[in-house]
Amino acid sequence: MTLRLDASSDGDLVHAARILLDGGLVAVPTETVYGLAADASNDSAVDRVFSVKGRPKNHPLIVHVAGRDEACRLAATWTHAAEILSTRFWPGPLSVLVDKSAIVSDHVTGNRTTVVVRVPDNDATLHVLRSMHSAGSIGLAAPSANKFGEVSPTAAEHVLADLNGLVDAVLDGGPCDIGVESTIVDCRTSEAVVLREGGVPFDALREELALHGMELKRPGEATRTDEAGHAIAPGMLASHYAPRALVELFEDVAELDKRRIELASRGLRVHVLPHPENSYEYSRGLYASMRECDATGVDVILALLPDAAGLGAAIRDRLVKAAAPR
Ligand code: TXA
Ligand code: MG
Repeated sequence: MTLRLDASSDGDLVHAARILLDGGLVAVPTETVYGLAADASNDSAVDRVFSVKGRPKNHPLIVHVAGRDEACRLAATWTHAAEILSTRFWPGPLSVLVDKSAIVSDHVTGNRTTVVVRVPDNDATLHVLRSMHSAGSIGLAAPSANKFGEVSPTAAEHVLADLNGLVDAVLDGGPCDIGVESTIVDCRTSEAVVLREGGVPFDALREELALHGMELKRPGEATRTDEAGHAIAPGMLASHYAPRALVELFEDVAELDKRRIELASRGLRVHVLPHPENSYEYSRGLYASMRECDATGVDVILALLPDAAGLGAAIRDRLVKAAAPR
């Protein structure tokens, strides 16, 4: 059985930290999605994350830390780009890729020479992180708290639906604010590259870097093309973040409606994903809606692609992956 802890209880936060420091696994809330956390300084706890998730060992984990100073320690070189972006966007939905220092275990990074690090914007999880650091831990290694390839959890109930009995506890902090994962930026050089679209919009990152005379690219635009220079995040697999129902995408609401009628007339259970005008509302509800479809036996999900501005790019990315051939 997985213990349910309350993020608003100080006693439960102490309890969560103790489980983690003893090598246990705790699903923790963040502003993006729930993370499946292990003490990043404990190799066997980190290994358990991979087996619980069913995740290939070469898909490295993000290390969550309480602040910029703890992040710096994990980097061989804390670059100018990392400093600028972390100063502006932490705590928040930004993950920074840098060359790793010796204190980061190969178990966390899947033998890569780089590490991805972020400071989540969630008071309860930051409190747990500070306790971890005080006890000598480098931080929490945490992928999203779902089975590999499936939809990320944005509520404690989602974590339990996937991982009940497989993790020691879930720290219930209510629904996540943003609802899609963090933006991952390769910050190793002054030409930074977005490896995964996410909670901080591309334009916001680019504007901040431009103030300091630096550039931000998408992977296709980067001048670096060699394998070593181009640390493609395995999260960029074609099919990912996928519900069981089939997903079809539309740029146009009239086309979507035509398809809905056609599928329904064939006796299929069809659901149209809610698509609020405001991209923050769209992203916040996206994964919960997909899970709801699976729970109620929907055959086909029809989704209207949002405009790519703001959080729209991350939403489009997740929808395209959910719709990819499996
Ligand atoms: O919002 C988020 O980022 C959430 C919350 C829990 O923080 N975490 C999350 O973790 O989405 P995960 O493991 O589901 O996705 C992290 C992505 C994966 O695609 C992983 O392969 C990539 O980051 N990644 C991690 N370390 C990396 C590294 N050193 N080099 C390249 N990619 C890396
Ligand atoms: Mg994930």
